[in-house]
Amino acid sequence: MADHWTEVQKKLDSIREKQLFRETRSYQGIDFCSNDYMGLATNPSMLEFFQSKKDIYPFGSTASRLVRGNTTSMEQFESAFASFVEGEAALLVSTGFTANFGLLDSIAAPDCYVFTDRLNHASILDGIRIAGAKKKYYNHLDLGHLRSLLEKLDLEDPTRKNKRIVVTESLFSMDGDSPDLKTLLSLKKEFGFVLVLDEAHAFGIYGPSGKGLVFQDLDPSEIQSIDYRVYTLGKSLGLEGGIIVTKQIGRDHLVNVMRSFIFSTAPLPMISELASFALSLLGSMDKERENLLSLASKLKDSLKQNGFLITNSTSHIVPILIETEKQALFYAAYLQEKGLDVRAIRPPTVSTPRLRISLNAKLTLESIHRLVEELILVRKKWNSL
Ligand SMILES: Cc1ncc(COP(=O)(O)O)c(C=O)c1O
Repeated sequence: MADHWTEVQKKLDSIREKQLFRETRSYQGIDFCSNDYMGLATNPSMLEFFQSKKDIYPFGSTASRLVRGNTTSMEQFESAFASFVEGEAALLVSTGFTANFGLLDSIAAPDCYVFTDRLNHASILDGIRIAGAKKKYYNHLDLGHLRSLLEKLDLEDPTRKNKRIVVTESLFSMDGDSPDLKTLLSLKKEFGFVLVLDEAHAFGIYGPSGKGLVFQDLDPSEIQSIDYRVYTLGKSLGLEGGIIVTKQIGRDHLVNVMRSFIFSTAPLPMISELASFALSLLGSMDKERENLLSLASKLKDSLKQNGFLITNSTSHIVPILIETEKQALFYAAYLQEKGLDVRAIRPPTVSTPRLRISLNAKLTLESIHRLVEELILVRKKWNSL
């Protein structure tokens, strides 16, 4: 048997050779890469609120939510969140990853077909895998392809004996694009599948009061027909945690079967206190949302005018496509040296390397200009190597 550490070393050597080695580092520079889209992670009112709550006792949650880890503040946050996004009930869990992973593990099974956008987040794909369900990929955003797969399955299983689930993100974090939600909902009506929609990167920014993309694109009855909506507290809310919005019966079911909820320590009590406060701020941040979207559109225009290749982003996430991993790392290192925190995103996170520029509401037009200027300079530098 091969020695474990020799095997590990070999794996690392191969990762390094492909320019795919990763390491944790402290951050510095202007934020062009985080998911703190509304700037709440560093918002002074949030900090003040945090300080006013510093005598919360016990500080730790001490156990899972089904034992001693549950607090009234968690339940209050769940109610406030469900009512904010006009859902019946919500379940707070420790992370967005836990939410997707645990949800799919809970609702899917080996006799079930799960249709997933090819670029869905790892937490979704891993949840399907752990459930042992039959995974059917459809091409990214290609609802025509999804339709043809559903039609094919209807021919094989005309009585729809096997459950069908469709899962997609409403805004893809590595491409900044979105599926046509209207078409998705009409497919749901026609084919009767269970729908899971992950609003992780859209919540806080799109729709009235930042309630999410579904509120921008769908009618109230269509929103109500979505079986599960998944959110994270780790992006626009500036914290950490995950939340699933569903029917009360859906929540009861998850509380009883979702292993990553049942067998894990509850989030810190402080989290739900802060999350309720963050939610109350979010509703009145229209100016910040406007600034964010206007910066995004200016950045995209400027990048295109200057010959950079970007994805078909329709959002504040603006990935610049770069030819090689080495080049992406070179660009990112240069920009970081200039005080601009831009990161290279490489396989296996994405299939082709890119600089994922994610904008936040605290940025200014001046910082966008600086970013483009430095990008032009680093491209020159790279081309002259
Ligand atoms: C679409 C999507 N869903 C879920 C998650 C996981 O959320 P969290 O970071 O809160 O674990 C992510 C993380 O980036 C994500 O991009």
